Amino acid sequence: MLVATVAIALGAPAAAAPPLAPEITVYKTPTCGCCVAWMEHLEKEGFRVRGIDVVDLAPYKGKARIPTALESCHTAFVGGYVVEGHVPGAAVKRLLAEKPAILGLVVPGMPIGSPGMEVGSRKDPYAILALERDGTTRVYEQR
Ligand code: CU
Ligand code: CU
Repeated sequence: MLVATVAIALGAPAAAAPPLAPEITVYKTPTCGCCVAWMEHLEKEGFRVRGIDVVDLAPYKGKARIPTALESCHTAFVGGYVVEGHVPGAAVKRLLAEKPAILGLVVPGMPIGSPGMEVGSRKDPYAILALERDGTTRVYEQR
């Protein structure tokens, strides 16, 4: 009888525990303001954001295997994935929920109107790319 009681007791608290907000580590240069704006966007989206200032981002982009032509101003890591550039938090959450077998998500350059790149009401269309393990990309979402 004791064994049965313990099993029930262990089952209850696990179901009631609140989901932990995903932690994302953002490598950025100290002088870039749009990275901070993107980090604030992620916090509003429920992420725990850890910003790390570095002088040279190249080693991190290299480690993450970001193609040079697709680079942006910051490189972030979350849940075993890389997130390069001004990727919307909703797309990162979809990535973490669906867990595809890719390296991560990339928004190349710095499209006006992407999270952290707001300039008035202007919104340039841009693609969120899935970076495949073989280094190729495909469109993950169009914004
Ligand atoms: Cu930027
Ligand atoms: Cu920036």
